[in-house]
Amino acid sequence: MEEDLRRLEAEATALLEAAADLRALEEARVKVFGKQGLVTVGLPQMKDVPAQLRPVIGKLANQVKQSVQGCFDARLAALEAAGKAAAGAARRFDPTLPGRLALPGRKHPLTLIWEDLVDIFTGFGFSVAEGPEVELSYYNFTALAIPEDHPARDGRDSFYIQGTTVLRTETSAVQIRTMETQEPPVRIIAPGRVYRRDAVDATHCHTFHQCEGLLVDRDVSFGDLKGILYATAQELYGEGAIVRFTPDYFPFTEPSAQMAIWYGREGICRDPNDPDARWLEVLGCGMVDPQVLANVGYDSETYTGFAFGVGMERLAMLKYGVDDIRLFFEGDLRFTGQF
Ligand code: DAH
Repeated sequence: MEEDLRRLEAEATALLEAAADLRALEEARVKVFGKQGLVTVGLPQMKDVPAQLRPVIGKLANQVKQSVQGCFDARLAALEAAGKAAAGAARRFDPTLPGRLALPGRKHPLTLIWEDLVDIFTGFGFSVAEGPEVELSYYNFTALAIPEDHPARDGRDSFYIQGTTVLRTETSAVQIRTMETQEPPVRIIAPGRVYRRDAVDATHCHTFHQCEGLLVDRDVSFGDLKGILYATAQELYGEGAIVRFTPDYFPFTEPSAQMAIWYGREGICRDPNDPDARWLEVLGCGMVDPQVLANVGYDSETYTGFAFGVGMERLAMLKYGVDDIRLFFEGDLRFTGQF
């Protein structure tokens, strides 16, 4: 009988140890401890054991039962631990997986030019002024001495909101708004968006950006204007950039001029004799017309000033060698990601 018990113990233990996973262990458990299980059926009923053997057999039967149970518990713990370890390993960092590409934002080329201009002019002691994009025609035209019959006033050239409000066609309106609220000396730039009824092509767009500049003080001369704009070109494009001033006409400046930059195949050209280079106009400028100063209540006998308005897309096209203005507005990341 002792031998039977030992065999039972060995068989049950072997069954449990053979279980390779939790499911197999559950099956083995039923075979061992279930209703028809080895241990349930195989352990002797004490009433069947002769009385003198009962103490010995009873003790042994208990040992076998405990030993098999202990074997089951150990197997269960081992398989559970292995399962957890496997799940952990599956979640572990896998250095062979391709990484997720981080796409950092880039500044738009017009933002870069805008920041350049603000840097340069704050360096010259100018501050930055703002005005509304929906502007009264008084500020956009009348106060700037733009005559009633000027084509810019025409509804075919400007976007009118209502009779006297218009999407500003130039940042020059900010000159007036600034001078109305400030006594001279005035030194401001006003970068911003402007609107014109232009058909869209490689060099025109209905919406674009200008940066206005205005300096009013005692004894301001045309030489000061040229000096500031020349220095700006050097700052923006590097030493040796060649600029030219030629006469022009604007209703709100007298005399008026335009500034052009010497531009070649490779961008800004530093060789005045390069046969492939040409002049590219980038801004209008002039001495503020005394009538404009009078319109804002400044004493035009005491104060003089200069003003300019530069096309920011033009500046960016020159700086970055962009040949189509539409690229600035299309939001194509392949373009804007290059700057
Ligand atoms: N507002 C002019 C334009 O849009 C540019 C301009 C010319 C601005 C001369 C000025 C200036 O301040 O003095 O074409």
